Amino acid sequence: MQNWNTELALTYHEETKHSYDSVYRSRHFLDWANQPRPFKLYPGLEAIPLPAQLPVSHVPALLAMAHPVETTAAMPRPTLHDLAYVLFYAAGITKRRVYPGYGEMLFRAAACTGALYHIDLYLVVGDLPGLDAGLYHFDPQDFVLRQLRQGDYRRVVVDASGYDPALQEAPVILIGSDTFWRNAWKYRARAYRHSFWDDGTILANLLAAANARALPVHLTLGFADAPVNALLGLDTDREVALFLVGLGAGALLPTVSPPADPLQVDVAPLSAEELDYPAIRLIHAASSLDSPEDAAEWRGAAPETSMPATSGDLFTLCPDTKESLPQATLEDVIRRRGSARQFSQRPLSLTQLSNVLVRTTQPIPADFLAAPGGRINDLYCIVNAVSDVPSGSYVFHPQDKTLELLQAGDFRLQAGALALGQELAADASVAVFMLCDLPPVLERFGNRGYRAAQLEAGILGGRIYLAAYAQDFGATGLTFFDDDVTAFFSPHAADKSVMFLTALGYAARRG
Ligand SMILES: Cc1cc2nc3c(=O)[nH]c(=O)nc-3n(C[C@H](O)[C@H](O)[C@H](O)COP(=O)(O)O)c2cc1C
Repeated sequence: MQNWNTELALTYHEETKHSYDSVYRSRHFLDWANQPRPFKLYPGLEAIPLPAQLPVSHVPALLAMAHPVETTAAMPRPTLHDLAYVLFYAAGITKRRVYPGYGEMLFRAAACTGALYHIDLYLVVGDLPGLDAGLYHFDPQDFVLRQLRQGDYRRVVVDASGYDPALQEAPVILIGSDTFWRNAWKYRARAYRHSFWDDGTILANLLAAANARALPVHLTLGFADAPVNALLGLDTDREVALFLVGLGAGALLPTVSPPADPLQVDVAPLSAEELDYPAIRLIHAASSLDSPEDAAEWRGAAPETSMPATSGDLFTLCPDTKESLPQATLEDVIRRRGSARQFSQRPLSLTQLSNVLVRTTQPIPADFLAAPGGRINDLYCIVNAVSDVPSGSYVFHPQDKTLELLQAGDFRLQAGALALGQELAADASVAVFMLCDLPPVLERFGNRGYRAAQLEAGILGGRIYLAAYAQDFGATGLTFFDDDVTAFFSPHAADKSVMFLTALGYAARRG
């Protein structure tokens, strides 16, 4: 098993860093005529419409993103309306825009690098009212499901997870898959990082949507890859399953599943030609788990992160209480969400920033974060404009809810430079960087820990989007010059690797 040869993850990470040379000397160009379609299409399969009338939760997004809604139902099982709700707010089409010379672009509930939408959702369900047991693919374009297999296949997935207790009685198991070419067309080998960033933004929404419907929800990253990929009928050189989510509770597993024979279904081609990026296949194989036993051993607590002793001024955060929390509902926030295209430099209040940081870092129900308060990434900030907080660089201490000043100063120019020269980071009120000390994570989890580190960062990034729009300002994910970010936050962040960057602020009205 290559999972424990952790040089492979470090090599992938190193080779896909952005540097001045890699970005400005690159000869890569976008072959628009060969752009892959952003949807997986199964032309021969009947469409099963999902209910268009979605439930309304009235749950504030800032609550839903962080905690399950309290419920009296002992064993909630999702209805078809719940499924439609969760799928729509995780990965549905929320906006349509027409661009002259290009045509109509369909934007989705969760942000995605390059709007290339390379993640698909599958559902493995036992019998539900209104939906027969089966394996289904979610098509966001038509808002329908398509059945790929009939029968209850949950046991195949639960077996592959090494009997993850969080999946065992879930009536629905969602599986996220990634088709590499749909993102690598633009981002080449770095697209494997995006596999998890863009899974993460979907998962932030999905976990929040489940919370809003009071459905138990849990993320599983440790599973034997081959049986799950085979169940979905994936050509694993091109497309792979990346995460499992158990949704609901109280549905006993059948003692056996029907045989998962090879799937014979047509899939529409994505583009005239597909290019292969071997580095992606290599790191994916190197972070795969061979058996259910490996998966069972893999899950558990992340290693404890340690920070240098506090030496800078501390600023205590002051998040809203439950009573004073902004009330924008999850549905409203996700429908309004869109990446900010220009920031106005108007300051945020300390309470607004506090809500973002504190809500975002609430526990994520995941198999690799089993210990309470477990986390892999540390949050570093460049504060450009926050009332009552001096401009400067900071590290966030989630336990104490404090920001520690690393260096005071106006770092707008540096923020823009770190974000590949994009003004969005310079004009933002705050830029939040997620950094990870990779060696202990890889020692604990092997190369699969690299997936976990990127995915946790993606979920945090997705939550930051929700927390911003819930408070009527904006956010955008951004890419970055890896080593320059580490150097900027050093010595505090020395040797850490950058996983994600999100910029926050009020949108500038253009024109
Ligand atoms: C991880 C991540 C990185 C991103 N990086 C950039 C970036 O470097 N520059 C940029 O302008 N937008 C960036 N975006 C925003 C995407 O372009 C945007 O999400 C996509 O076009 C979909 O639009 P929407 O978020 O408004 O729905 C990023 C988004 C994500 C999730």
